[in-house]
Amino acid sequence: MVDDMKVVVNQRLTGVIMKTDIHWVLTVPAICSDLAKQFMRQAAVKAGITTESLTIVLEPEAASLYCQHLPVNTTVTDGSLTKSQFPPGSKYMVLDAGGGTIDITVHEVQSQNTLREVRAANGGDWGGTMVDKAFENFLIDLVGETVFDTFKHSETEDWLHLSRAFELKKQAAGAQSEGNVTMHFPVSLNDLFETENESKLCIKDAIVASKYGKTVELKRDKLKISHSTIGKLFEESLEQIVQHLQKLMKDERMADIKTLLMVGGYSESLLLQRAIKSAFPGIHEVIPQEASSAVLRGALIFGHNPIAVTERVLKYTYGIAIYQPFEDGKHPESKRMKTDKGDCCRDVFGNLIKKGLSVTPGETQVRKQYTTGNKKQTGLCFDIFISEEKTPTYVDDKSCTKIGTIEIGFEELDDIPGRIVNLTMLLGGTEIIVELEDEKTGNKVINTAEFWG
Ligand SMILES: Nc1ncnc2c1ncn2[C@@H]1O[C@H](COP(=O)(O)OP(=O)(O)OP(=O)(O)O)[C@@H](O)[C@H]1O
Ligand SMILES: [Mg+2]
Repeated sequence: MVDDMKVVVNQRLTGVIMKTDIHWVLTVPAICSDLAKQFMRQAAVKAGITTESLTIVLEPEAASLYCQHLPVNTTVTDGSLTKSQFPPGSKYMVLDAGGGTIDITVHEVQSQNTLREVRAANGGDWGGTMVDKAFENFLIDLVGETVFDTFKHSETEDWLHLSRAFELKKQAAGAQSEGNVTMHFPVSLNDLFETENESKLCIKDAIVASKYGKTVELKRDKLKISHSTIGKLFEESLEQIVQHLQKLMKDERMADIKTLLMVGGYSESLLLQRAIKSAFPGIHEVIPQEASSAVLRGALIFGHNPIAVTERVLKYTYGIAIYQPFEDGKHPESKRMKTDKGDCCRDVFGNLIKKGLSVTPGETQVRKQYTTGNKKQTGLCFDIFISEEKTPTYVDDKSCTKIGTIEIGFEELDDIPGRIVNLTMLLGGTEIIVELEDEKTGNKVINTAEFWG
């Protein structure tokens, strides 16, 4: 993509664009883990983008920014949206409904150029492709799994045509309720069905006899599907989204939310818009006309005029593996370790910072001291973990995932245990930085972007 972009830019512009003239803004979903963000940065560096010329932006933040810059008359719900609808102090929910994921974040406007994250991103995989999957299941209901699988694999071109045709019907769904939705039924699928059934049964009769007997009809190569059958394909995805939103709205922090920003391609769906409107009558939906490109447009604005996000809510508890003095009965024998300070229990989850806390990006949030357990110890190594739990017990609990390691070595060794190492951690931006300092010498180790993963 980087190469393609350069080709396009050089074709369209006279004069040479230097590498240093370009600043890249890469967007990632807010539910992306820190690890995934690091991965994106590494991928970008591999593609020839220098770290200094790259900003990683969370998608709902980009979308928010775009919506704050919307001119009057560009929203679908009503034409009255102006910037004043986001005065400082106002809270709103951003729903980014894409193909794969539904990403929900709550923001509060602090001033014209700053935002505060009120609730950490969350959501699930109930996006537009869930409807595509429902369409596949519908076809399986009509022709059977074996025929459908063969069709998909051996008649891939026809299958692609059919999926593209469905994409258009999906986008139009909800616009009409009279008549039927008509789609071309591929001859190859018909042939495969007849071969499978040794020509004893034709697909037309099979449909009449199926549960779709009254709602679906095949006439020559035209498949006529009732609007309600098309609507049913959306049902599960809509239910999941609405239920999830309902659960979120129950939270008292959400009580004063009056506005829902709907962005992402799936937000353009009339069925999704209607489902949300009827489930939340008191909420004002703002749907920009270019919902599907709101993130992209917002990223562009961000590149020219970055907003500061003043607070973020931690999605995980961060911790490291530590040793604790061994207590019989409390600690498992399997974790017993001998050290010069006596028996210890290893793999204990040492909390650095807890999930749910609001943190200010760019400020150091964690300062801790650790000491060595052995004399002549040559260094200290920390495995860093995240957990979905607020207070996990051991780092090998199910809820914990190791996200990296940081290590500091000592040049002159001590004759007694207890050498002090200071650990500081800075998080809440789109990345995390951990630093270790050997108190005796002042030597420091800071993690680099490449260090995670
Ligand atoms: N008018 C429309 N009606 C219904 N669905 C639509 C419409 N326009 C686009 N979509 C669906 O939106 C999805 C794509 O949205 P978008 O481009 O926001 O996804 P994405 O950002 O690539 O995915 P993700 O956010 O999950 O990574 C597709 O499933 C597409 O079918
Ligand atoms: Mg998206």
